[in-house]
Amino acid sequence: MGPSRQTAPPRSVRQPVPPTTRAPGRQSDPAMTRVCNETFGSLPDGSPVVRFTLRSSSITLRVLSFGAIVTSLETEDRDGRAADLVLGFDTLEGYINKHPYFGAAIGRVANRIAQGKFSIDGKDYQLAINDGPNSLHGGLKGFDKVLWTPEILPNGVKFSMTSVDGDEGYPGELRVWVTYELNGEELSINYRATTSKTTPVNLTNHSYFNLAGHGIPTIYDHEVSIEAENYLPVDKTSIPTGEIASVVNTYFDLRNPVVLGNHIKNKLTEGFDHNFCLSLSKQRSPCARVYHRPSGRLLEVETTQPGIQFYTANFLDGSLKGKGGAIYPKHSAFCLETQNWPDAVNKMEFPDVLLRPNEEYNHTTWFKFSVVKQ
Ligand code: BGC
Repeated sequence: MGPSRQTAPPRSVRQPVPPTTRAPGRQSDPAMTRVCNETFGSLPDGSPVVRFTLRSSSITLRVLSFGAIVTSLETEDRDGRAADLVLGFDTLEGYINKHPYFGAAIGRVANRIAQGKFSIDGKDYQLAINDGPNSLHGGLKGFDKVLWTPEILPNGVKFSMTSVDGDEGYPGELRVWVTYELNGEELSINYRATTSKTTPVNLTNHSYFNLAGHGIPTIYDHEVSIEAENYLPVDKTSIPTGEIASVVNTYFDLRNPVVLGNHIKNKLTEGFDHNFCLSLSKQRSPCARVYHRPSGRLLEVETTQPGIQFYTANFLDGSLKGKGGAIYPKHSAFCLETQNWPDAVNKMEFPDVLLRPNEEYNHTTWFKFSVVKQ
């Protein structure tokens, strides 16, 4: 995986996609996924937003053409009871309004760029500032607020969009493809991009998970492990200091599972909002595991990315009205944002975040949802 020679871009379809006639339902063939779609709402300019439903033998996933947003992800617990494991809204309005990126595709650069500044080949760039003194998750209008063009695939859906040269201050026209596929217990998200000028690119998904079900007020009974020997300490604006610190003898040592509630209460009262450093091999590698013992749900994450931002929803405050009237307080979800390291564009010693015109950005993350029987 990783940058390689450019391949032919995928064919895209025009919106709106006509409703499909295939009936949703449980699959007898575990390898098979059914995809159907319906109109979810309209943007203020009248453009229709389509919601796709992907059903495999064990996952039902819903994703929008607006922001390529995952709006729901249902699996069963060990007793066969289904729950929706991601935070979100019932209506399009919730996603159009300002919100903390629930379920969205994030770009052009996920995470923070210090003061929104960088330079490439001696030329300085200034991005919009939208998080204290920094630029966060693509700027004022990131990829989470864009209407993507969908294409239905046998096992999923592929979304494409073009970010124009100068979009949010970034150089080069960037073409982007994000593909969601279900394969039995596994959701894969593949990100590809090509550019006309050298630009930083860092794409991720910002789903907020709660393995007990969205709307359950905490994740304190979740057991988490992250396969990282190093993490990035940050300053008070959450920009990495530049140090690549060992996790040994710190509360960032998650190589063996910790029960989040105990761990946060004893050691890190605010919770996690940090990048953990993963394998730089660009090969599919296991990176995180979250087990919810009461339900038996187990989430295992693998990625080709060099980092993962582990965020325990520290800034949620219960003020948003979630799906079905749910309230989402602080620490009611966790995000596992596989990505390049924050502010890599300004830190020579961090993995290269620049995409050049003759290259292709190509990364995949796999989320496997299984159930541990007692
Ligand atoms: C960041 C958090 C931020 C959240 C929502 C995460 O990726 O690390 O600091 O609050 O996104 O914007």
